[in-house]
Amino acid sequence: MHTRAQRQQPRHEETTHFGFKTVPTEAKESLVRDVFSSVASKYDVMNDAMSLGVHRLWKDHFIRSMAPAPGARLLDVAGGTGDIAQRFLAYQDETSGDAQGSVHMVDINPDMLREGEQRFAGSRWQQQARIGYTVGNAEKLDFVEDNSYDLYSIAFGIRNCTHPDRVVKEAFRVLKPGGRFMCLEFSRVTNPLLAAAYDLHSFYVIPRLGELIAGDRASYEYLVESIRRFPPQDGFAQIIRDAGFATIGKGYENLTFGTVAIHSGYKF
Ligand SMILES: C[S@@+](CC[C@H](N)C(=O)[O-])C[C@H]1O[C@@H](n2cnc3c(N)ncnc32)[C@H](O)[C@@H]1O
Repeated sequence: MHTRAQRQQPRHEETTHFGFKTVPTEAKESLVRDVFSSVASKYDVMNDAMSLGVHRLWKDHFIRSMAPAPGARLLDVAGGTGDIAQRFLAYQDETSGDAQGSVHMVDINPDMLREGEQRFAGSRWQQQARIGYTVGNAEKLDFVEDNSYDLYSIAFGIRNCTHPDRVVKEAFRVLKPGGRFMCLEFSRVTNPLLAAAYDLHSFYVIPRLGELIAGDRASYEYLVESIRRFPPQDGFAQIIRDAGFATIGKGYENLTFGTVAIHSGYKF
């Protein structure tokens, strides 16, 4: 039997972070969805403005590091407007001749995915049925069979997920034995001087650009804050190993002084 005082106590609620805010865990997914719905139409132009175009080089390097085999099938999760899918298919065309690979994009946000679909509408890749789209949550890919993909990618997506460890476990489930998980994500700049300059850019320049270009300061404040909440390089490499992946060496490569890192793991 509960006493009156016990009954009046608020129910314990699980919380998580949304940028620097603490929110109920169950609310995060829809808050993140709102952010990306708000930025979807300006997403590509903002990426160029915030990174001075450097995000293109990071993504190019990501696909070169992936070096997909001829005919490989990629699941690109949090695929957004299709930057990774586009580079993957272009790489396949350049290197694989007739052995066509394919990519399936998954994203929780239909507005982002629609931007991607529009980008590829009428392209030869769409005509060849080498690209597909599904709205879905990286944490629960129940529409994807076990052991079904050669490659899994997630670029600038996992830090927005409520449970990154569940995302990596799902990646392990859907990859074939021998398959490879690859993640491109903002990480930690270790040099203190560079880190200070980067903080200045992140907390002053990026929200201002968001306000000027996308008319949305709050979403870009969230994006910057979410980077600080994501585990640093070694911590994330451990999450990947805990999910069952084997890593080579420390399991990641830093780009631009650790502004971003490429993490990689193999399912054996
Ligand atoms: C910063 S964008 C990155 C898009 C693209 N991969 C790129 O590199 O340009 C992050 C994407 O992650 C998606 N996302 C966030 N949480 C997700 C989740 N739980 N499952 C699937 N996608 C998610 C967002 O909707 C958004 O499209």
